[in-house]
Amino acid sequence: MSTPIVIAIDGPSASGKSTNAKIIANELGYTYVDTGAMYRTLAWNCLQQGIDTSNPEAVAHHCETWNAALAHEDNQVRLRVDGYYPEAEIRSAETSAVVSAVAAVPFVRDWMKARQRDCVQFGNLVMEGRDIGSNIFPETPYKFYLDASPAARQQRRDDDGIQENLATRDQRDSTRKSAPLVIPDGATVINNTGETPEQTSGRIIAEFNRLKSAGP
Ligand code: DC
Repeated sequence: MSTPIVIAIDGPSASGKSTNAKIIANELGYTYVDTGAMYRTLAWNCLQQGIDTSNPEAVAHHCETWNAALAHEDNQVRLRVDGYYPEAEIRSAETSAVVSAVAAVPFVRDWMKARQRDCVQFGNLVMEGRDIGSNIFPETPYKFYLDASPAARQQRRDDDGIQENLATRDQRDSTRKSAPLVIPDGATVINNTGETPEQTSGRIIAEFNRLKSAGP
Protein backbone atom coordinates (compact mmCIF):
# COMPACT_ATOMS: atom_id res chain seq x y z
CA MET A 1 0.00 0.00 0.00
CA SER A 2 1.31 3.48 -0.82
CA THR A 3 2.04 6.01 1.93
CA PRO A 4 -1.08 8.00 2.85
CA ILE A 5 -1.26 11.62 1.68
CA VAL A 6 -1.50 14.32 4.36
CA ILE A 7 -2.80 17.79 3.51
CA ALA A 8 -1.71 20.07 6.39
CA ILE A 9 -3.79 23.19 7.03
CA ASP A 10 -2.53 25.61 9.67
CA GLY A 11 -3.47 29.12 10.69
CA PRO A 12 -4.77 31.28 13.54
CA SER A 13 -8.24 31.04 15.09
CA ALA A 14 -11.14 31.74 12.70
CA SER A 15 -8.89 31.75 9.64
CA GLY A 16 -11.27 29.28 7.95
CA LYS A 17 -9.32 26.09 8.65
CA SER A 18 -12.22 23.90 9.75
CA THR A 19 -14.69 25.02 7.10
CA ASN A 20 -12.18 24.57 4.29
CA ALA A 21 -10.60 21.39 5.61
CA LYS A 22 -14.03 19.73 5.81
CA ILE A 23 -14.95 20.77 2.25
CA ILE A 24 -11.59 19.55 0.92
CA ALA A 25 -11.78 16.22 2.79
CA ASN A 26 -15.28 15.71 1.46
CA GLU A 27 -14.37 16.52 -2.14
CA LEU A 28 -11.26 14.34 -2.15
CA GLY A 29 -12.73 11.51 -0.07
CA TYR A 30 -10.05 11.95 2.60
CA THR A 31 -10.45 11.70 6.37
CA TYR A 32 -10.79 15.02 8.24
CA VAL A 33 -8.80 15.56 11.45
CA ASP A 34 -9.51 18.56 13.70
CA THR A 35 -6.49 18.64 16.02
CA GLY A 36 -7.85 21.68 17.88
CA ALA A 37 -10.75 19.47 18.95
CA MET A 38 -8.24 17.03 20.45
CA TYR A 39 -6.67 19.78 22.61
CA ARG A 40 -10.15 21.03 23.47
CA THR A 41 -11.16 17.54 24.56
CA LEU A 42 -8.27 17.37 27.00
CA ALA A 43 -8.99 20.91 28.26
CA TRP A 44 -12.66 20.01 28.78
CA ASN A 45 -11.76 16.78 30.55
CA CYS A 46 -9.34 18.61 32.87
CA LEU A 47 -12.17 20.97 33.87
CA GLN A 48 -14.51 18.00 34.38
CA GLN A 49 -12.01 16.26 36.60
CA GLY A 50 -11.13 19.37 38.61
CA ILE A 51 -7.56 19.54 37.29
CA ASP A 52 -5.93 22.97 37.70
CA THR A 53 -5.30 23.96 34.06
CA SER A 54 -2.83 26.65 35.11
CA ASN A 55 -0.58 23.94 36.61
CA PRO A 56 1.44 22.30 33.76
CA GLU A 57 2.48 19.34 35.92
CA ALA A 58 -1.10 18.56 36.88
CA VAL A 59 -2.21 18.78 33.24
CA ALA A 60 0.69 16.57 32.10
CA HIS A 61 -0.13 13.99 34.76
CA HIS A 62 -3.79 13.92 33.72
CA CYS A 63 -2.79 13.53 30.05
CA GLU A 64 -0.57 10.61 30.98
CA THR A 65 -3.42 8.77 32.66
CA TRP A 66 -6.70 9.72 30.96
CA ASN A 67 -8.60 7.07 29.02
CA ALA A 68 -8.66 8.59 25.52
CA ALA A 69 -8.60 6.80 22.17
CA LEU A 70 -8.91 7.69 18.48
CA ALA A 71 -12.09 6.72 16.67
CA HIS A 72 -12.67 6.87 12.90
CA GLU A 73 -16.32 7.70 12.21
CA ASP A 74 -18.22 9.74 9.59
CA ASN A 75 -14.98 10.27 7.63
CA GLN A 76 -13.35 12.06 10.52
CA VAL A 77 -11.11 11.21 13.44
CA ARG A 78 -12.42 11.87 16.93
CA LEU A 79 -10.81 11.54 20.30
CA ARG A 80 -13.17 9.75 22.66
CA VAL A 81 -12.74 9.92 26.44
CA ASP A 82 -14.06 6.91 28.31
CA GLY A 83 -15.86 6.17 25.04
CA TYR A 84 -17.55 9.61 24.92
CA TYR A 85 -17.09 12.36 22.31
CA PRO A 86 -17.85 15.75 23.96
CA GLU A 87 -18.84 17.47 20.71
CA ALA A 88 -20.75 20.45 22.14
CA GLU A 89 -18.88 20.77 25.42
CA ILE A 90 -15.49 21.40 23.79
CA ARG A 91 -16.84 24.58 22.12
CA SER A 92 -17.96 26.20 25.40
CA ALA A 93 -16.52 29.52 26.55
CA GLU A 94 -15.06 27.75 29.62
CA THR A 95 -13.12 25.29 27.48
CA SER A 96 -11.97 27.99 25.03
CA ALA A 97 -10.64 30.06 27.91
CA VAL A 98 -8.24 27.35 29.13
CA VAL A 99 -7.33 25.43 25.95
CA SER A 100 -4.27 27.51 25.07
CA ALA A 101 -2.72 26.86 28.49
CA VAL A 102 -3.37 23.11 28.16
CA ALA A 103 -1.98 23.06 24.60
CA ALA A 104 1.23 24.76 25.72
CA VAL A 105 2.29 21.89 28.02
CA PRO A 106 5.22 20.03 26.36
CA PHE A 107 4.05 16.58 27.53
CA VAL A 108 0.62 17.28 26.04
CA ARG A 109 2.17 18.26 22.71
CA ASP A 110 4.23 15.05 22.57
CA TRP A 111 1.18 12.95 23.47
CA MET A 112 -0.92 14.66 20.80
CA LYS A 113 1.83 14.38 18.20
CA ALA A 114 2.01 10.60 18.60
CA ARG A 115 -1.82 10.29 18.25
CA GLN A 116 -1.98 12.71 15.33
CA ARG A 117 0.74 10.85 13.42
CA ASP A 118 -1.14 7.61 14.15
CA CYS A 119 -4.10 8.97 12.19
CA VAL A 120 -2.51 7.79 8.91
CA GLN A 121 -3.77 4.34 9.89
CA PHE A 122 -7.12 5.68 8.59
CA GLY A 123 -5.75 6.57 5.12
CA ASN A 124 -5.34 9.92 3.36
CA LEU A 125 -5.90 12.90 5.66
CA VAL A 126 -6.81 16.57 5.70
CA MET A 127 -5.47 17.65 9.09
CA GLU A 128 -5.94 21.14 10.49
CA GLY A 129 -4.25 22.82 13.43
CA ARG A 130 -1.43 25.15 14.42
CA ASP A 131 1.69 23.01 13.92
CA ILE A 132 0.72 20.32 11.40
CA GLY A 133 3.08 21.40 8.60
CA SER A 134 5.84 22.56 10.95
CA ASN A 135 5.88 19.79 13.55
CA ILE A 136 3.40 16.92 13.12
CA PHE A 137 3.93 16.12 9.42
CA PRO A 138 6.89 18.30 8.36
CA GLU A 139 7.58 15.79 5.57
CA THR A 140 4.32 16.39 3.70
CA PRO A 141 4.68 18.39 0.48
CA TYR A 142 1.08 19.65 0.87
CA LYS A 143 1.18 22.49 3.40
CA PHE A 144 -1.23 25.41 3.53
CA TYR A 145 -1.34 28.37 5.90
CA LEU A 146 -4.65 30.22 6.05
CA ASP A 147 -5.04 33.74 7.31
CA ALA A 148 -7.55 36.60 7.19
CA SER A 149 -7.59 40.11 8.58
CA PRO A 150 -8.13 40.35 12.37
CA ALA A 151 -11.42 42.17 11.76
CA ALA A 152 -12.68 39.45 9.39
CA ARG A 153 -11.69 36.70 11.82
CA GLN A 154 -13.38 38.41 14.80
CA GLN A 155 -16.49 38.94 12.66
CA ARG A 156 -16.64 35.20 11.84
CA ARG A 157 -16.56 34.31 15.55
CA ASP A 158 -19.24 36.90 16.29
CA ASP A 159 -21.39 35.54 13.42
CA ASP A 160 -21.08 32.06 14.95
CA GLY A 161 -22.38 33.52 18.22
CA ILE A 162 -19.14 32.68 20.00
CA GLN A 163 -17.89 35.29 22.44
CA GLU A 164 -14.15 35.14 22.45
CA ASN A 165 -11.17 37.45 22.39
CA LEU A 166 -9.24 35.99 19.48
CA ALA A 167 -6.29 38.32 19.88
CA THR A 168 -5.52 36.93 23.35
CA ARG A 169 -5.66 33.30 22.20
CA ASP A 170 -3.62 33.99 19.05
CA GLN A 171 -0.98 35.75 21.14
CA ARG A 172 -0.72 32.72 23.47
CA ASP A 173 -0.65 30.21 20.61
CA SER A 174 2.05 32.13 18.70
CA THR A 175 4.39 32.83 21.60
CA ARG A 176 4.44 29.51 23.47
CA LYS A 177 7.80 27.71 23.58
CA SER A 178 6.60 24.30 22.39
CA ALA A 179 5.55 24.11 18.69
CA PRO A 180 4.11 27.65 18.38
CA LEU A 181 1.93 28.74 15.48
CA VAL A 182 4.28 29.60 12.59
CA ILE A 183 4.05 29.61 8.81
CA PRO A 184 5.61 26.22 7.97
CA ASP A 185 8.57 26.17 5.56
CA GLY A 186 7.31 25.70 2.03
CA ALA A 187 3.65 26.37 2.91
CA THR A 188 1.30 28.05 0.46
CA VAL A 189 -0.07 31.10 2.29
CA ILE A 190 -3.70 31.91 1.53
CA ASN A 191 -5.29 35.09 2.83
CA ASN A 192 -9.03 34.49 2.48
CA THR A 193 -10.40 37.84 3.70
CA GLY A 194 -13.59 38.47 1.73
CA GLU A 195 -13.60 35.04 0.05
CA THR A 196 -16.30 32.38 0.24
CA PRO A 197 -15.31 28.91 1.50
CA GLU A 198 -15.94 27.60 -2.03
CA GLN A 199 -13.37 30.04 -3.41
CA THR A 200 -10.76 29.28 -0.73
CA SER A 201 -11.17 25.50 -0.83
CA GLY A 202 -11.11 25.68 -4.63
CA ARG A 203 -7.77 27.49 -4.53
CA ILE A 204 -6.36 24.90 -2.10
CA ILE A 205 -7.54 21.93 -4.16
CA ALA A 206 -6.16 23.47 -7.35
CA GLU A 207 -2.76 24.03 -5.74
CA PHE A 208 -2.80 20.53 -4.20
CA ASN A 209 -3.51 18.99 -7.63
CA ARG A 210 -0.75 21.08 -9.18
CA LEU A 211 1.79 19.98 -6.52
CA LYS A 212 0.66 16.38 -6.76
CA SER A 213 1.01 16.17 -10.52
CA ALA A 214 4.37 17.98 -10.39
CA GLY A 215 5.61 15.10 -8.18
CA PRO A 216 8.47 15.08 -5.68
O1 DC B 1 -8.55 25.49 16.28
P1 DC B 1 -9.11 25.57 17.69
O2 DC B 1 -9.56 26.95 18.08
O3 DC B 1 -10.19 24.57 17.94
O4 DC B 1 -7.88 25.20 18.63
C1 DC B 1 -8.01 25.18 20.02
C2 DC B 1 -6.68 25.50 20.69
O5 DC B 1 -5.80 24.39 20.58
C3 DC B 1 -5.95 26.72 20.16
O6 DC B 1 -5.97 27.75 21.12
C4 DC B 1 -4.55 26.28 19.94
C5 DC B 1 -4.50 24.84 20.25
N1 DC B 1 -4.01 24.04 19.14
C6 DC B 1 -2.68 23.81 19.07
O7 DC B 1 -1.93 24.33 19.90
N2 DC B 1 -2.16 23.01 18.11
C7 DC B 1 -2.98 22.47 17.21
N3 DC B 1 -2.44 21.67 16.27
C8 DC B 1 -4.35 22.72 17.22
C9 DC B 1 -4.85 23.53 18.20
